[in-house]
Amino acid sequence: MGLVKFATTIFTVITLLGSLAPSQIEATFKCSTTNATCHSLVDYKNPKGTTLRYIQTLFNVKHLQDILGANNLPTNTIGNYSVGPNEAIKVPFPCKCNNGTGLSNHVPVYTIKAGDGLYDIATTTFAGLVTFPQIQEVNNVTDANKITAGDKLWIPLPCSCDEVGGESVVHYGHIVESGNSVEGIANKYGTTQQLLLSLNGISDPKSLQAGQVLDVPLKACSSNVRNDSLDFPLLVANATYIYTANNCVKCKCDSSNNSILQCEPSSQFKPTKWSICPSTQCSSNLFIGNITSMDSCNSTACDYAGYTSKNISTVLANHSTCAAVAPSGSEPGSGASSSSTLQVWVWSKLFILIHFILFSVYLF
Ligand SMILES: *[C@@H]1O[C@H](CO)[C@@H](O)[C@H](O)[C@H]1NC(C)=O
Ligand SMILES: *[C@@H]1O[C@H](CO)[C@@H](O)[C@H](O)[C@H]1NC(C)=O
Ligand SMILES: *[C@@H]1O[C@H](CO)[C@@H](O)[C@H](O)[C@H]1NC(C)=O
Ligand SMILES: *[C@@H]1O[C@H](CO)[C@@H](O)[C@H](O)[C@H]1NC(C)=O
Ligand SMILES: *[C@@H]1O[C@H](CO)[C@@H](O)[C@H](O)[C@H]1NC(C)=O
Ligand SMILES: *[C@@H]1O[C@H](CO)[C@@H](O)[C@H](O)[C@H]1NC(C)=O
Ligand SMILES: *[C@@H]1O[C@H](CO)[C@@H](O)[C@H](O)[C@H]1NC(C)=O
Ligand SMILES: *[C@@H]1O[C@H](CO)[C@@H](O)[C@H](O)[C@H]1NC(C)=O
Ligand SMILES: *[C@@H]1O[C@H](CO)[C@@H](O)[C@H](O)[C@H]1NC(C)=O
Ligand SMILES: *[C@@H]1O[C@H](CO)[C@@H](O)[C@H](O)[C@H]1NC(C)=O
Ligand SMILES: *[C@@H]1O[C@H](CO)[C@@H](O)[C@H](O)[C@H]1NC(C)=O
Repeated sequence: MGLVKFATTIFTVITLLGSLAPSQIEATFKCSTTNATCHSLVDYKNPKGTTLRYIQTLFNVKHLQDILGANNLPTNTIGNYSVGPNEAIKVPFPCKCNNGTGLSNHVPVYTIKAGDGLYDIATTTFAGLVTFPQIQEVNNVTDANKITAGDKLWIPLPCSCDEVGGESVVHYGHIVESGNSVEGIANKYGTTQQLLLSLNGISDPKSLQAGQVLDVPLKACSSNVRNDSLDFPLLVANATYIYTANNCVKCKCDSSNNSILQCEPSSQFKPTKWSICPSTQCSSNLFIGNITSMDSCNSTACDYAGYTSKNISTVLANHSTCAAVAPSGSEPGSGASSSSTLQVWVWSKLFILIHFILFSVYLF
């Protein structure tokens, strides 16, 4: 009898320990247009705390400023900026749709170190953003126990390029924290519970688990970027900024500005493919971001319209700001109304004048 009881106790303890280990939910985001590419964001948390430079290196992010912009951190933040234990940092990366699913487009690439196991790479190094079978599959690793130090692994992060409700969005892989509700997350990121549930294929909001990676669509600002621009579609999520046109233009998205992308010339960083930035003017003394006229409802501004290998395009455009000025009585996140009212900003007709300004080109 004693032995049976002992065995039962041991069994119970083992079962309990087993249930304490986080059960990983595999995140796959729907991405319907095969071969579509776009920018996405994913949370990264380190239980011991880390630095932005570590995150930049781990995820192969080209420029530190890309991480700063994704997190709305001041532009002069340095790489050794310390990130607290379990503090979520949004990591920007390129996404590509394939066969109904979005995956980071062959980045990040992780070099296996001596003693690494696939499970730890997935759950610890990459904070559970992927599962080890996912890494195994995309890298054609037949035996998970046989990986070789020095070999490189593509870590397939979940993402999507789909529009949501007919709107351009940036898909953000949000790591659920314990105690979070779907409704709370929806309110925080300007969306609705129903939309999050359907997008993530969740039927019961109570089934949400800490550590789960949720597809959260962040509203992207509207812009005048041409469809033949190298950065088209320039999707900048609400409450983030980016540098584009080889670092020559900084654009930020702020829902307080009627969700119209606000761009300006930038000399903060050395241009990446040009020795100097080409012209960022609509006309003499009228630069990207300058407003020429403004009345109660309408303003005319010199807008960023994209770039090519040689030049930066601008356009004079009228913006209607009436909707933003109108007093808004609705509480933020007060239920279903906020998603259906995600406004479609009506643009006044565009000015015909599109100024392509070609400057002396010093490629490379
Ligand atoms: C996607 O791209 C691949 C490689 O370029 C190509 O072979 C394939 O036909 C494309 N599929 C679609 C649906 O465009
Ligand atoms: C960050 O780096 C700068 C120099 O690059 C150094 O002066 C500063 O002390 C460092 N800060 C921390 C917190 O390590
Ligand atoms: C595409 O996805 C379906 C299931 O969603 C799967 O059955 C099929 O094998 C996949 N095709 C490829 C080429 O991966
Ligand atoms: C995956 O690896 C196996 C064995 O190493 C090989 O036979 C197979 O062709 C590989 N498949 C791909 C798609 O690389
Ligand atoms: C934009 O982000 C701000 C700050 O995070 C938030 O307060 C606001 O609700 C968001 N607006 C939309 C439309 O998502
Ligand atoms: C690009 O935009 C122009 C008008 O601005 C339009 O005529 C053209 O069809 C668009 N091309 C694509 C591929 O969407
Ligand atoms: C955008 O909004 C900010 C803060 O609300 C304001 O300071 C700025 O002037 C606005 N920019 C434009 C171009 O309206
Ligand atoms: C026009 O834009 C330039 C560059 O951003 C800025 O330096 C200048 O102050 C702006 N002028 C006006 C009148 O807003
Ligand atoms: C703003 O522009 C629209 C058309 O572009 C016009 O119908 C409207 O009257 C203008 N509003 C004001 C206050 O000028
Ligand atoms: C843009 O706005 C200006 C004044 O605000 C107006 O004179 C002009 O007609 C507008 N252009 C278009 C295309 O609506
Ligand atoms: C800007 O660059 C594009 C592509 O290189 C070229 O087609 C266009 O003519 C240029 N614009 C001007 C004004 O030269």
